[in-house]
Amino acid sequence: MIDLSTEYLGLKLDNPLVPSSSPLTGQLDSAKELEDAGASALILPSLFEESIEYEQKQLEHFVHSQSLGSYEAQSYQPIPDDYGSELDNYLERIQRFKNSLDIPIIASLNGISTNGWIETGKELEEAGADALELNVYFIAADPTTSGDEVENRYLQLLTDLRQHIKIPVTMKLSSQFSSVANMVLKLQQAGAQGVSLFNRFYQPDIDLETLQVKPHLELSNSNESLLRIRWIALIRDYVNISIAATGGFHNTDDIIKSLLVGADITHLCSILLQNGPNHITVINNELLKWLEENEYNSVTQMKGSISKASAINPEELEHSNYMHVIKSYNQKNKS
Ligand SMILES: Cc1cc2nc3c(=O)[nH]c(=O)nc-3n(C[C@H](O)[C@H](O)[C@H](O)COP(=O)(O)O)c2cc1C
Repeated sequence: MIDLSTEYLGLKLDNPLVPSSSPLTGQLDSAKELEDAGASALILPSLFEESIEYEQKQLEHFVHSQSLGSYEAQSYQPIPDDYGSELDNYLERIQRFKNSLDIPIIASLNGISTNGWIETGKELEEAGADALELNVYFIAADPTTSGDEVENRYLQLLTDLRQHIKIPVTMKLSSQFSSVANMVLKLQQAGAQGVSLFNRFYQPDIDLETLQVKPHLELSNSNESLLRIRWIALIRDYVNISIAATGGFHNTDDIIKSLLVGADITHLCSILLQNGPNHITVINNELLKWLEENEYNSVTQMKGSISKASAINPEELEHSNYMHVIKSYNQKNKS
């Protein structure tokens, strides 16, 4: 009997297939479908720092205008009894999911400032979240901000949170650090129990008719998984924290590669949005078949078996790969 189980953030999961934050993981009915199809855990959509800040400002404004008595002159809008803030709704969702599902539920916070996140982190923990993923979606657009300052923001946020909550914390990172491997190491030293490699940034587009910048969301493609696979292979042997492969995992082959280079789990998002929650069953069966055909007894046995230290040609993972690829293109075009 082949054992697909894997350990991630100290949690024992039945298999390495984990739906990452998306609208599918935010509704109980689709979350239930994901669980029934074989998802071993799920990550809720993020609670965004901006929306909590916005709500707080609205509330402060409301309380302020009441204390000034201005509501008598203006249209008075009492806070409705059933008013639920984003945070309240999020906490209620964690509790509802925990009551209805058996798989671990990982909460997700998206933001960069420490302010407020400590209290929020504690509340997520109390509501029953099994772990917390921090998605530090930060674009260093200010040229006076140095790389060190950017890294320190991540580390400070993590350190502050780790002091106040007990559940495991994992960081969903961008690949855009001068030294990704060093950043992962520093995060481990600051107490992260895991990293998710890598976050996808959505690039805004320009509308040529209105000349305005417009948001642009495109689902990933399988080719994007190669960046993740390469970096996980390079980093795996130097850290002893959990690694989730995320971004571009569209078929069972991509997922097998991520495990072979040392990922503990693979996040799935675009593929499930395209094919529906039941697609997890297809991947699960294909994964089992591959292990059987290749004589692996378990996912644990295959994990990391071709990371940098174990790869047959480790140098192919590094710079020399670039030269070979360019040369092979030139040769192909000569013939
Ligand atoms: C519609 C949509 C909503 C998403 N919402 C979130 C979110 O709330 N928080 C987050 O960290 N990632 C979010 N993501 C990113 C995904 O979790 C995932 O990291 C990304 O899509 C890359 O994985 P994929 O290639 O399998 O799609 C979202 C992605 C999509 C397409």
